Amino acid sequence: MCGIVGILGNGAAAPRLVEALKRLEYRGYDSAGVATLERGELKRVRAEGKLRNLETRLADHPLHGAIGIGHTRWATHGRPTENNAHPHASDRLAVVHNGIIENFRTLREELAAKGYRFATETDSEIAAFLVTDELAAGKSPADAVYASLRRMRGAFALVYLFEGEDNLLIGARQGAPLAVGQGDGEMFLGSDALALAPFTDRVAYLEEGDWAIVTREGAEFRDADNNVVQRRFVKTPAGGLLAEKGNYRHFMAKEIHEQPEVIGHTVAHYVDMGAQRLKPFDWPVDPKSLNRVSIVACGTAHVAGLVGKYWIERFARLPVEVDVASEYRYREPPVDKDGLTIFVSQSGETADTLASLRYVKDNGARSVAVVNVATSSIARLADAVAPTLAGPEIGVASTKAFTCQLVAMAALALGLGRARGVLSEADETRLVGELAATPGLVAETLKLEPAVEKIAQKLSTARDVLYLGRGTAYPLALEGALKLKELSYIHAEGYAAGELKHGPIALIDAAMPVIVLGPRDPVFEKTISNMQEVSARGGRIFLIGDAHAAEEAAVTLESFLPMPDMASTFAPIVYAIPVQMLAYHTAVIMGKDADQPRNLAKSVTVE
Ligand code: G6P
Repeated sequence: MCGIVGILGNGAAAPRLVEALKRLEYRGYDSAGVATLERGELKRVRAEGKLRNLETRLADHPLHGAIGIGHTRWATHGRPTENNAHPHASDRLAVVHNGIIENFRTLREELAAKGYRFATETDSEIAAFLVTDELAAGKSPADAVYASLRRMRGAFALVYLFEGEDNLLIGARQGAPLAVGQGDGEMFLGSDALALAPFTDRVAYLEEGDWAIVTREGAEFRDADNNVVQRRFVKTPAGGLLAEKGNYRHFMAKEIHEQPEVIGHTVAHYVDMGAQRLKPFDWPVDPKSLNRVSIVACGTAHVAGLVGKYWIERFARLPVEVDVASEYRYREPPVDKDGLTIFVSQSGETADTLASLRYVKDNGARSVAVVNVATSSIARLADAVAPTLAGPEIGVASTKAFTCQLVAMAALALGLGRARGVLSEADETRLVGELAATPGLVAETLKLEPAVEKIAQKLSTARDVLYLGRGTAYPLALEGALKLKELSYIHAEGYAAGELKHGPIALIDAAMPVIVLGPRDPVFEKTISNMQEVSARGGRIFLIGDAHAAEEAAVTLESFLPMPDMASTFAPIVYAIPVQMLAYHTAVIMGKDADQPRNLAKSVTVE
């Protein structure tokens, strides 16, 4: 899931390529590179590591061409070295590639037998040599790309730049996103509209299997069968948005603090605040005829799905199964044609989630997508969209998108409950009121940051951390552990508090912090018993609960974070805040890069 960009401009392309890559770094940051044409000749500059290394290189070796391509890498095939950095080149062209070419071994052997010398360990170099080979056979650049596309299997997006062709870029999409931007006598290609935002807000999206021949005069779109097709340029809202950190040290910190606002926006999308009722939702199936609901997602979005299960089962009395998309897509689960599957994704591009959606569609069943990027592949493919209005999320670890996903899941659950007659009008009004209170509660919780920092100080010296929770706090315990692992590299596990005695209790000692998420809900008493079990074994308990929780728990606490009093139903939306802040501050204290944790990427368009 790398980021790719192409510019057919009028001034020097390299600084603008770098500007676009900055907006794509969320897709990977193992290496970066750009290529331009100078008097028709290909010139490349590449660097290992983050984009700033490339910037330093470019300062010493500036590139002047007005046409160029750029890449920021998340390594799949081959180590993150400069040699494996894109663009990859032959004597005829350079290419940037996002995704995986699955049949690269066979193609590599075939090309090697023809005498092509591979300089890298990547699958991407195949994309360069295949087209070079077609050019050598006398084909035009467009025909050569088309012929090569038919030979590569996998999920990828590509942009080609050709030696001697000062007014031509060719882009292709097969399973990974690619957008074309239209400027004033200039044209652009990029993995998303955000990357192109500094240059244009007029963007067209390639559909699955499309490829595009782009010159300064415009773009010709063709489909997988080489038919010329129309892809409309639309004005994209991303055009106005600047990815800036403002006064914050990290995007993650900024995004954590944006939550009262974006949760508020998302609640307002689903709720008529005046009437204290839900706004109507256009269900792709009649909720009354449903027998079950499936939820499919990855990572933090999967955790949002797990919380959604509790709510849908409670409000709509429908059985819910939740799957990670990488399992779902290959398990070939039976799909109930009259059922409903909800896909949850911030980016709307996660390869496994997208493939699962295709599977459900191919089986003739209906889908709703809870997505943050309205123009994404998942949003466009699903039968209905339940948007999260978190705005662009740049920090790799999902924060504001997660809480907005929870709001959307809550609204869907309430909507299903009402439509099925399980919830009364009075229930709806009460629950909608509780949901509408969450932005204020989140704002109040953010004030606990100095106290959270103190706890983070203690966590930063731990080797392992255990998170416990019951009910909807259980998925939140999973999220707490996930966040801490990915940001601080401290090993952490999330467990259902009641399951403690079936294994992890063996780990309790005086060294391992046990973080208990204990909102006041009907199962809090049970959680107290589990804390006592930890306490009896000399464990270190860190409790996150409301003002009376510490008193009620009656155990020795190493630390207590007093959360605001609240109705428990939507507590996960509020309790997500200390969970996020804890991971963030632990990482910062330990000197880790909270925005770009090692080995991770924001948008995972590979499987
Ligand atoms: C990556 C990100 C996570 C995210 C997951 C799913 O692993 O680092 O923050 O939850 O992908 O991404 P999606 O865009 O589908 O929500």
